[in-house]
Amino acid sequence: MRGFGSLLVLAAIPAALAVKSHDFKTCSQAGFCRRGRALSARAAENPSWRSPYSVDASSVALSPDQASFTAAIKSSIYPDVKFSLDVRIHDDGVVRVRMDEVDGLRKRYDEAASWALLEEPKVSQKVQWTVAKDSVKAVYGAKNDIEVKVAFEPLKVTLFRGGKEQVVLNNRGLLHMEHFRTKESVPKSKETVPVPEEGLDTEDGVQAVLGVHPRAAWFEGEQEDGWWEETFNSFTDPKPKGPESLSLDIDFPNHGHVYGIPQHATRLDLPTTTGENAHYTDPYRLFNADVFEYLADSTMSLYGSIPFMHAHSADSTVGIFNAIASDTWIDLGHPSPKSTTSHWISETGILDVFILPGPTPADIFTQYTRLTGTPALPAHWSLGYHQCRWNYVSSEDVRSVQKRFDEEDIPVDVFWLDIEYSEEHKYFIWDKRHFPDPVDMIKDVEAIGRKMVIIIDPHLKRTDNYPVYKQATELGILVKKGDGLTDYEGWCWSGSSAWVDYFHPGSWDWWKSLFKTEQHGDQWSWLESTVNTGIWNDMNEPAIFNGPEISMPRENIHYGGWEHRDLHNINGMLFANLTSQAVMARTDPPKRPFVLTRSFYAGSQRFGAMWTGDNLGTWEHMAVGVKMVLANNIAGFSFSGSDLGGFFGNPEPEMLVRWYAVAIFSPFMRAHAHIDTKRREPYLLDDPYKGIVRNMLRLRYSMLPVWYTAFREASVTGLPVLRPHFVAFPRDERGFSLDDQYFVGSSGLLVKPVTRKGVTEETVYLPAEDQVYYDYFNHNAYRSDAKGKEITVPAELHQIPVFVRGGSIVSTRERPRRSSPLMRRDPFTLRVALGKDSSARGELYLDDGETFSHQQGELVWREFVAEKPAKKSKGVRISSRNLATQKPTEAVDHVALATYDSGNAFAKAIADVRVEKIVVLGLPTKPSSVAVEGGKELQWTYTDGVAASDKKEGTASVLVIRDPKLAVASDWDILVKA
Ligand code: NOJ
Repeated sequence: MRGFGSLLVLAAIPAALAVKSHDFKTCSQAGFCRRGRALSARAAENPSWRSPYSVDASSVALSPDQASFTAAIKSSIYPDVKFSLDVRIHDDGVVRVRMDEVDGLRKRYDEAASWALLEEPKVSQKVQWTVAKDSVKAVYGAKNDIEVKVAFEPLKVTLFRGGKEQVVLNNRGLLHMEHFRTKESVPKSKETVPVPEEGLDTEDGVQAVLGVHPRAAWFEGEQEDGWWEETFNSFTDPKPKGPESLSLDIDFPNHGHVYGIPQHATRLDLPTTTGENAHYTDPYRLFNADVFEYLADSTMSLYGSIPFMHAHSADSTVGIFNAIASDTWIDLGHPSPKSTTSHWISETGILDVFILPGPTPADIFTQYTRLTGTPALPAHWSLGYHQCRWNYVSSEDVRSVQKRFDEEDIPVDVFWLDIEYSEEHKYFIWDKRHFPDPVDMIKDVEAIGRKMVIIIDPHLKRTDNYPVYKQATELGILVKKGDGLTDYEGWCWSGSSAWVDYFHPGSWDWWKSLFKTEQHGDQWSWLESTVNTGIWNDMNEPAIFNGPEISMPRENIHYGGWEHRDLHNINGMLFANLTSQAVMARTDPPKRPFVLTRSFYAGSQRFGAMWTGDNLGTWEHMAVGVKMVLANNIAGFSFSGSDLGGFFGNPEPEMLVRWYAVAIFSPFMRAHAHIDTKRREPYLLDDPYKGIVRNMLRLRYSMLPVWYTAFREASVTGLPVLRPHFVAFPRDERGFSLDDQYFVGSSGLLVKPVTRKGVTEETVYLPAEDQVYYDYFNHNAYRSDAKGKEITVPAELHQIPVFVRGGSIVSTRERPRRSSPLMRRDPFTLRVALGKDSSARGELYLDDGETFSHQQGELVWREFVAEKPAKKSKGVRISSRNLATQKPTEAVDHVALATYDSGNAFAKAIADVRVEKIVVLGLPTKPSSVAVEGGKELQWTYTDGVAASDKKEGTASVLVIRDPKLAVASDWDILVKA
């Protein structure tokens, strides 16, 4: 068990009390997972295996518009148990398949999707199902090339595209919805019955053995296994509902790569867990848990779960979102290099699967984020550098850390307070011995637009002198023990604690009221904070030190009578959801909330940022952190990062510097460290390390326009901020397993952070396309070709392999500042990286960065284009155009842009913000003139070098146009004449 209490106790924790793998179940230690795997093994062993589930043809009922249908499902092993099937196709082509037990002894948990989905998806009005003798079918899609077929006998759901199987549910007959039963209903004596016709045909009869229905033995196994009480370590789970697991195989017969299902510390292209050469022995597990000192290469579950998977091949991408909230294990196999099997085994819940038809990764992101929401557009400041540690121990400590940053001219936007700010870990309540003047302290930090983020954990110290706990008790909104009556008590940082049941609607307004910074009636509120303070939600899996698997007993009861096991993986999302609503409710109109969460689920992207929890200060963890952040990005949750420097340990300077390079190219960039570690704020480094880190942070700040534009695109389209190779180049097979380099949004920036010790060079893969890639720093031009190409580039400690793809225009702000709000009126630099056809384009999105006025059209959205003025010209025209008036129908921005007014208040406020420099890479010849169209000659310099249109490599030609006196938010054209 972990320590709690004073700093002294905490300082003594680590190694000896470290939580190790043995605190967490393997598949073989979880009854339902064991049963699921055994089912799969029986199926694999028997060639005549056949799913017992079938559709009752006579029951198929089309909806009046024929867009969806329901049917009854029978199981030959339990003919008296009834199931229902509901299949519908949404207006974007996504197929939703639901199956539930009907009139069972109990109700299965069916609310996971309602928490994950943005809204109830619209069923297509165009698609029509047709019923045949043996199946129901629908054909649809822009090219009419998608077919969904629900076969009756056995039940099998297949999505075809172009006649090829893309996704098949119950392909291998592993579907099994364990119906509710009582202990008494299970036969207790041995009896012999004939094998049902649809069962195995290997013997004449089966022996019914204790606890198994004889008819089901071939399918469910001959032994009742872990159906009722189960003990793990010293914890007994009474499992009063008995077996109710759900097993489902989802196969991708024509896809050789699968990605997603975060969070696991593993490769992006998920390695196998089944088959002869299985990479891992245990399935991937989705069960939100506080895994202390987690392994850097494992299928173990971690803090968050997104049951969303991409399956990819060179000509097709499809996706699966399995809306399940209980403990889930997923086996993966590649029966051949070009096909994938997956087997999902969940403890409880209905079957509620969304099949995303693709056909490209971009389509998958659109389809998935239409379901679960696009990432919230973050406050601009939250893309800056966050400085955290457990703990800055006093107001004076916070002030002096800030001072040191300023003295050393190191940019930083956010200072964080971990749990020790609070009196006895009663969150919201300041420990006044060390933080006597909290509001003044926060305001000191906010003086130049910086912010504070303060931790609020979900465990409430059980003491009457804690108003938050007292009120929650009085409101009756605490999670209950298995009896459904008594408030549950467990141990966490605050000692004996209780947990609010955020599924209880009675908790919602109350939670919001706590964050008010002004007095409202006699309600307790957090007067000692400010409306700008961001919130850190930690331990929300929930982590409970004396609970099974360091979490909540599964038999605990939530609102509506659901057991904790039913909704475990959603718990953390609800906490962050309500906290973000609470933060917004502090002001009217609201500001964009900043909430960091450790635990998450599908849909969490709507509420804030996440980080990958308690990593170790090792090279392996640094490297796997990049992969984990990529996995999160492709699972809809772009705003993610890992603890910079590693939570545990004391990284040597080389490692710390490399970690800064990783972090400045992460969507969320926060340095954090365990309470036992030595201080490692960047100003404590010696030179040259300190100078290198300062430059790296300045580089991040200079690129904030790139990040913000990428986030804005993600918030509108669902395309991730970080794009791994298979996303950016879906047909380039050599890149399908790449997960240590990636693109930033649509900017054309390709990054490969170094995550190994002692490196002076790094290899980078350039995609299979005939294109030029420029080194961001020294402008060296590299050429890729149709086969793709590996290049080796210098990567000394001060160097980061960063490239601009030819054809891109990158907007930056290059004046070093102490915080990002100070850059608001800074001028821009445009880097025009000409492509092989001598053209380029880029986008820049700007708004006030903190309110929601962009939703009313208070924004600036520009497009920069470079192209030849005439076909054979060697010159180039560089223009600035208003994109906001060009794309009025784009998804989320529809309202804002349909009525867009270029003279909106925000645009006016930045009307005088200039472009101060334009750098053009790859011109073929020295210009004869560079002038604003119809205007005077501009100041420029030209260095000869390789042209974009050449086949050559080497330093590119560089034209630098200085201070063209053009506003970034207005239309203009610059003519570069050859
Ligand atoms: C666990 C979190 O993962 C870590 O970041 C934090 O510092 C500690 N809890 C203390 O709050």
